[in-house]
Amino acid sequence: MTRLAAAPSPSVRVRAPGKINLSLRVGPVADDGYHPLVTVFQAVALVEEVTATQVAEGAGISLTVDGPQSGRVPLDASNLAWRAAELLAREVGLAPDVALHLAKGVPVAGGMAGGSADAAATLVACDALWGAGLPRAELHRLAAILGSDVPFALLGHTAVGTGRGHLLTPAMSRGEFHWAFATRDEGLSTPAVYGRYDELAATGALVPSADPAQDTALMQALRAGDPTALGPALHNDLEAAALDLRPELERTLEIARNGGALGAMVSGSGPTVAALARSRQHALAIAATWTAEGAADAVWCTTGPAAGARLL
Ligand code: C5P
Repeated sequence: MTRLAAAPSPSVRVRAPGKINLSLRVGPVADDGYHPLVTVFQAVALVEEVTATQVAEGAGISLTVDGPQSGRVPLDASNLAWRAAELLAREVGLAPDVALHLAKGVPVAGGMAGGSADAAATLVACDALWGAGLPRAELHRLAAILGSDVPFALLGHTAVGTGRGHLLTPAMSRGEFHWAFATRDEGLSTPAVYGRYDELAATGALVPSADPAQDTALMQALRAGDPTALGPALHNDLEAAALDLRPELERTLEIARNGGALGAMVSGSGPTVAALARSRQHALAIAATWTAEGAADAVWCTTGPAAGARLL
């Protein structure tokens, strides 16, 4: 008698990138509670990998996770990957039966959109696993429902984002940029940072504006692949609010600047600090100084731009 090995459950693996906002310009808060943005996204080579595996009918969604800082990731329906699987299933009229595994490579709750990358990767993975075959534009529509940063994790590379950050236009960028990141164990809540931004705007401490014309030098630096020109063009309107909530980040910025970073800023809503370096060695040197000075709980070095969500 021949014994047949049990057929492995079909599974699909998808990789999606974290991001930084090379420029983040925030307009005055609108009636829906969101702020109109003009932002320039760059995807970086810190990536999330989502594996979606077929399970028995009626088994529902399950979620497991590994990777640095994975202990801080919720494993229930509040996880954006879980919500992405639910949304897609509802949209295509299927039962949400899937085992999801997240291999996390993006800092958790650091303003680098790791959770959004999980959601984007889950949409692509479940679409393939369930044979839904949704057009890319439809995946983008679902992505925007899940969160403002999810569409960019689908697209990757470099793009200008408007609206809530979800309306995307790809932008030209040449070559590779080297980044060092300093992360903190204690995250910052995005709504809290926007809330402090509104308070600072109300007192006149800052003036909300989201004028795309302000980023001409940055777009030129990207097209030229010139990190020396990109450094001074980096801009984050939320930085003042993040620093107000977490003043210790000032020292992290200062250490990067003293270490010759071409530019240093809070990434997105923080608390991650991003430093643009001249080379990989330079990025490693900045990261080593952060560690030696106790100015980060963890340090990361990588490059950008990187590809958007794609099947492996
Ligand atoms: O879209 P997402 O769920 O990622 O946004 C999280 C929170 O960030 C929102 O609830 C809102 O408070 C704030 N936000 C904002 N303006 C944006 C994007 C996000 O005020 N353009």
